[in-house]
Amino acid sequence: MDRPESPDPLAGSTRDFLTRPEPDLAAKAVAFSRWHDARIGFGGFPYAKRLTGAPTPRAALRLLDGSLQEGLNFSSQDYLGLASHPAVKAAACAAVGCYGVHSAGSSALAGEMDLAGPVAAGLGELLRMPHVTLFPTGWAAGYGVVRGLVRETDHVVIDLLAHNCLMEGALAATRKVVPFLHLDVAHARQKLAGIREREPQAGILLVTESLFSMDADTPRIAAFQDLADEFGARLLVDVAHDLGCLGETGGGQLERQGCLGRVDLVIGSFSKTFASNGGFVGCRDRAVHDYLRYFAPPNTFSNALGPVQLAVVAETLRIVRAEEGGVRRTALLRAVHALRGGLVAHGVKVLGAAAPIVPTYIGSAAAGRRAVKLCGERGVLVNLVEFPAVARNASRFRLQVMATHTPEECEMAARVVAGALEEAQAAEAPGEPSAA
Ligand SMILES: Cc1ncc(COP(=O)(O)O)c(C=O)c1O
Repeated sequence: MDRPESPDPLAGSTRDFLTRPEPDLAAKAVAFSRWHDARIGFGGFPYAKRLTGAPTPRAALRLLDGSLQEGLNFSSQDYLGLASHPAVKAAACAAVGCYGVHSAGSSALAGEMDLAGPVAAGLGELLRMPHVTLFPTGWAAGYGVVRGLVRETDHVVIDLLAHNCLMEGALAATRKVVPFLHLDVAHARQKLAGIREREPQAGILLVTESLFSMDADTPRIAAFQDLADEFGARLLVDVAHDLGCLGETGGGQLERQGCLGRVDLVIGSFSKTFASNGGFVGCRDRAVHDYLRYFAPPNTFSNALGPVQLAVVAETLRIVRAEEGGVRRTALLRAVHALRGGLVAHGVKVLGAAAPIVPTYIGSAAAGRRAVKLCGERGVLVNLVEFPAVARNASRFRLQVMATHTPEECEMAARVVAGALEEAQAAEAPGEPSAA
């Protein structure tokens, strides 16, 4: 019998394997597995990589084919470089001595440790919000707050590019999920006005992010809160990528836009700046805070943050709010400007504004797959984002900068990335001038 041809590793996307009209549920997985193997065989497969040490500016990653890529690391999220900070590591060790290693219960029962109190209070001060609920992960916080508050008669009016946790929460809670064009206040207003006209009594959650990670762009947050107030909706803002690492005192885009303490609900993650798994929801109403503890499913049906996670967040939060936090934020922005400047100087299209994520536009999936392989071989470790995480033919690198990257390292990385993109794009269209 003829063996079926191996799939083209430069074509297709995960979307092709989402559904398959066969009675065996595993059929789609079998088809996916062949494509996945073909992509691994191509080399430089950019997903499911494993770090061999700490997420520092120089690191080594083990790829699924067993090979090792070593070099400048722009693929880890540790924006202020706190994951290897001596005081943070010491706090983690001390917590093990005191509390052991496990939370042993959900926060709705007896799993939350008393370390959670100061963590929630410190976050509340940073956000200028009186109430903070902790969650096992940022994803769980996003999913949990939407699923916890919204019922099937309610509407979720949500930025088209909002994070998966928010979208999944919305889709699980109601069929009335209404996307608006990315960052577009006027379009959101149109949606809210339409809902209010048809259903004056419906509950509405308006959802956006303070820094969108695929595009490094930011909405006008006060305009969204005004809109929510005008239409009797509640605004939820996801601050996962900027809280702690941007803003004069670490208050992120909320602080930069004078919105600290002004929005109804805030969700965030510890996994980008606070060196730990975990997430939180900040709110202005004590009633909502109490309600979420019991009605947000991840808080009732999943274990609370463990002692090491809480101790790490307590210590990183202390650093973020101390003078050292400001010094690290300045170093982060210096590195970001060096990287963005270097990329632009080499003719690379960089999206958005200065932030710890530097999205570098590529275009076709094939060019992205070739370029990420070349970068890894040349000692620059980056993440590739492809359709359906972004629009079709809008592949990009997502370079994640740390305060501990030097400007020289950023300039070196920019040179390598630009060269790899130029070669990959030239391979796309032989004979035509390349447009890196
Ligand atoms: C905007 C946004 N919200 C929430 C999350 C989820 O955070 P966590 O990694 O802590 O689950 C992420 C992480 O990818 C994110 O980018």
